[in-house]
Amino acid sequence: MSTRKDAPSSKGNNGVADSLRFFATWLRHPLKLGAVAPSSPRYCATMAACASTEIDGPILELGPGLGVVTKALLDKGVSPERITSIEYDPGFAETLKARFPRVNFIQGDGFDLDKTLGSRRNEKFAAILFAIPIVNQPQELRQKLFSDYFGRLLPGANLTQLSYLQKAPVKPMPGVFSVSSSPIVWDNIPPARVWIYSQDGAERMAA
Ligand SMILES: C[S@@+](CC[C@H](N)C(=O)[O-])C[C@H]1O[C@@H](n2cnc3c(N)ncnc32)[C@H](O)[C@@H]1O
Repeated sequence: MSTRKDAPSSKGNNGVADSLRFFATWLRHPLKLGAVAPSSPRYCATMAACASTEIDGPILELGPGLGVVTKALLDKGVSPERITSIEYDPGFAETLKARFPRVNFIQGDGFDLDKTLGSRRNEKFAAILFAIPIVNQPQELRQKLFSDYFGRLLPGANLTQLSYLQKAPVKPMPGVFSVSSSPIVWDNIPPARVWIYSQDGAERMAA
């Protein structure tokens, strides 16, 4: 029996084969990849649960890897057409396009959204899910980048970030965004939290 591509039941990854490919890519580009393995299913479900997808509008994913968080969004019930996902690695981007043909994948730089989004550069998003390694950048640059992302969010929408750090990788900016986190997800390699950046002054029920 065939499975409709992009449906919530799609496998979304190839288990051991994806883990080996991810690890081999990390050996060649450790700073770009930032992780030795794809995030665990429990971690991805937590990321999707924390994202403000209940707000009407498109969703932006940055650094999808081989699509584990993309799959979690679909499993949450987000329709694939709402998702735009930007991956820098050309080989990963090709695999993602074949794996989730109804999701809009762009091979490009998630740090330069004006260029990467092109004619869609002024679009506002209902949520941004961020997994690009950022901790090798100075704090001021991280805050500048996140301010830019916050300018691309709809009212009440949030930005969620994958991180293994014990502290928020991006410090809150009063008047722009504040930060909270999920509990640690222990079965991730390594254990990680979802950091949740919320617009100051915007109320949202926790997922
Ligand atoms: C830590 S991995 C996360 C992958 C996946 N989201 C997961 O949870 O398993 C980071 C991903 O960001 C991608 N990446 C790195 N720099 C990027 C950039 N400037 N723009 C877009 N993607 C980038 C890497 O190629 C890699 O796929």
